[in-house]
Amino acid sequence: MTNIQTDLSIIRTLNQQFTDQRPKDIIRYAIEQHGQVGVSFSGAADVVLVDMAVKLDKNIDIFTLDTGRLHPETYEFIDRVAKHYQIKIDVRSPEPAPLQVLVKEKGLFSFYQDGHDECCGIRKIQPLRQKLSTLNAWITGQRRDQSPTRNDVNHLELDQTFNGIEGDLYKFNPLASWSSAQVWEYIRMFDVPFNVLHERGFKSIGCQPCTRAVQPNQHEREGRWWWEEATKKECGLHASNIKSL
Ligand code: ADX
Ligand code: SF4
Repeated sequence: MTNIQTDLSIIRTLNQQFTDQRPKDIIRYAIEQHGQVGVSFSGAADVVLVDMAVKLDKNIDIFTLDTGRLHPETYEFIDRVAKHYQIKIDVRSPEPAPLQVLVKEKGLFSFYQDGHDECCGIRKIQPLRQKLSTLNAWITGQRRDQSPTRNDVNHLELDQTFNGIEGDLYKFNPLASWSSAQVWEYIRMFDVPFNVLHERGFKSIGCQPCTRAVQPNQHEREGRWWWEEATKKECGLHASNIKSL
């Protein structure tokens, strides 16, 4: 067997074990096994990951990608979370040079005309790539019930898009099998702070121009990039979800 096949077979075995484990046990495993682990926090209900991770390790690396286009409520929330848990959040910004070129050439809303890939590439993917190159593993709040593109998300994956500090990068999705209802039960039970946009009909929260509130009967991510097809609704952070469709 090649190394990659060995890795994939270990990952399969671990995923079988993780099926019966709680998200916090999976986070604990990630911290114990991988050392340089970062929690990617979008400023939405994935705050439950922050709550769980900080309770396990006060110094865990929590990072957020500040695209420059988040809602004011989300900026306020990120700051509130840092104060609530008395932690420092690593807020990552885009490189100014490519951003200036994009905005100068195409304006501030080019994504409505030619799709979100270019803007997300500059505002999210490049800063993420840079951050992940300092880690062995990252932890995300992806859940299977979020979207058709996420039906097959596993608790642990070998990241097919990004590299870590030593090459291979492990991607943990501790909430993969949780429902939205379970996330909110956790938030209420443990008095976890939450983004006020959730009280205004926002289920999934991304950038302000690319996110809108949804009706109670609509799918969680229908308000994201609503002018694009459901099967394309990944911004590159989780691009391998699209390849696996
Ligand atoms: S996205 O790719 O469409 O933006 P989504 O908002 O569903 O993703 O969030 C899924 C997970 O991706 C989050 O729980 C978080 O781990 C990560 N993520 C998304 N946006 C950000 C961000 N701005 N900063 C850090 N992590 C993010
Ligand atoms: Fe740009 Fe919209 Fe992507 Fe945010 S979600 S980076 S504003 S295209």
